[in-house]
Amino acid sequence: MKPSEHVQNLKIGFIGAGNLTQAVMRAFIDSGYVRRENVLISNRNEKKLERVSQDFQVRAAKTNEQLIENSDIVFIAVKPQDFYQCIEPIAQAFNEDHIVISLAAGISLQSVQKLIPSSPKILRVMPTTAAKIKKSVIAFAFSPAVRPNLPWLTELFSTMGLAVPVEDGETMRAMLVAASSGIGFVYELMMYWSEWLEEHDVDPQTARKITVQTFAAAAAMAEHDRDTSIDELQRKVASQKGVTASGLESMRELEIERALRISFEKAAMRDQELGKLLG
Ligand SMILES: NC(=O)c1ccc[n+]([C@@H]2O[C@H](COP(=O)([O-])OP(=O)(O)OC[C@H]3O[C@@H](n4cnc5c(N)ncnc54)[C@H](OP(=O)(O)O)[C@@H]3O)[C@@H](O)[C@H]2O)c1
Repeated sequence: MKPSEHVQNLKIGFIGAGNLTQAVMRAFIDSGYVRRENVLISNRNEKKLERVSQDFQVRAAKTNEQLIENSDIVFIAVKPQDFYQCIEPIAQAFNEDHIVISLAAGISLQSVQKLIPSSPKILRVMPTTAAKIKKSVIAFAFSPAVRPNLPWLTELFSTMGLAVPVEDGETMRAMLVAASSGIGFVYELMMYWSEWLEEHDVDPQTARKITVQTFAAAAAMAEHDRDTSIDELQRKVASQKGVTASGLESMRELEIERALRISFEKAAMRDQELGKLLG
């Protein structure tokens, strides 16, 4: 879809020029939704600020206040442990016209609203660095004042992948675990695949390629046959009493699902704990 003039003319600021900001900027600029001359970044470490602004050919703000003054949308992309220290001294710089987007994991929408009372339009957005290849899941929760802006904001987020509105709280946490930590969990499985191949005399490079291709094939087929449920797709590749069926039976006997479920719950609890620690 073609971006509207309105979106293209918006001034977009990023406080924190780290990994996630770079992935998000990459998606916004490459998609043509955002003009690089409308992007402003700030960062604690000046050398990094200079390097990233040169790499992306975007403008660098000397201070966070200057960035806020010159932006319509402000992304806050500092680590959760730096969040309060970063925002408290500049909270008054936000006004009611700003759209404020927190990318910080573990900090609730409500906490951001409390911290920035002058700005009613607040979102909590949870993308991953897969945004840079347009493959991220982007879960987002928003305050009521954001609602009129949702159509174009959803379009903007969709430049990073699949944008999904969710309630903040448990659902956001489940999305964080499944879709963000989820990438790490899938890598864990990929490591087992690769190691098993290596144990059977496949060289490491080829084992890696085979593993990537196998995971990519499963995902691509599920994407291709999008109206077919995952268990139906599985039935199609596992003939009765065949090799795949035998492996699957063993996976169920060994309760792989239970093990994964426990790991997901542990990750969700850790997110909750971190949220409490951060206040
Ligand atoms: N990476 C991911 O996949 C991912 C996924 C979902 C959510 N997130 C969230 O995204 C946020 C950023 O993560 P990240 O991976 O991009 O972290 P990162 O690479 O460490 O980037 C954070 C940046 O913020 C800068 N910063 C810290 N305090 C600042 C301040 N007061 N003013 C201006 N800049 C400041 C840091 O500057 P220095 O150069 O001085 O360190 C650093 O460059 C986190 O809250 C994280 O929870 C990340």
